[in-house]
Amino acid sequence: MDEVERRRLRDLMARFATGVSVVAARHGPLLAGMTANAVASISIDPPLMMASVARKAETHGAIIGSHAFAISILADDQQDLAECFARPTTAEKLTGFCGASWEEAETGSPVLEGALAFFDCRLTARHDGGDHTIFIGEIVAAGYREDAEPLLWYASAYRRFEASS
Ligand SMILES: Cc1cc2nc3c(=O)[nH]c(=O)nc-3n(C[C@H](O)[C@H](O)[C@H](O)COP(=O)(O)O)c2cc1C
Repeated sequence: MDEVERRRLRDLMARFATGVSVVAARHGPLLAGMTANAVASISIDPPLMMASVARKAETHGAIIGSHAFAISILADDQQDLAECFARPTTAEKLTGFCGASWEEAETGSPVLEGALAFFDCRLTARHDGGDHTIFIGEIVAAGYREDAEPLLWYASAYRRFEASS
């Protein structure tokens, strides 16, 4: 596929409006995290979530190494974190975790403070997804807050809900 086709495909995929999350995992003594919108609920019984993660992402290795990941669904005042976690990993990102305040969830994975919701998942399966891996995890802990609105992503831009008058 040439560069023009690749861009067109990205533009097409970007027509699916989503929320924005940070998928994160322990990376030995460090923490890895990446902005992700290719996450979804899979099953209620058993409770399963999935995240599609690029093989080249630092977070990919961290999920495999720790057998766990946490999905923090971002609130609309967390765009700066979304932007930081979307940057390629640098030593600073890996040691500083984008300056985010976080808490350790049951699996040991980091959950972002102030997130709209979180799912702490134990890795139960992984499937080949081309240049991505589809990670499936059983939810071992989860929570949400009602006093916040979601950060949204559409057509390659961050968005917010508008109050209807
Ligand atoms: C809104 C948005 C959504 C994204 N969704 C995903 C995704 O679902 N899966 C993925 O592999 N990368 C996704 N990315 C790209 C990663 O965030 C980016 O490659 C990041 O640098 C990976 O970080 P890491 O290498 O430190 O793990 C997304 C980026 C943005 C801005």
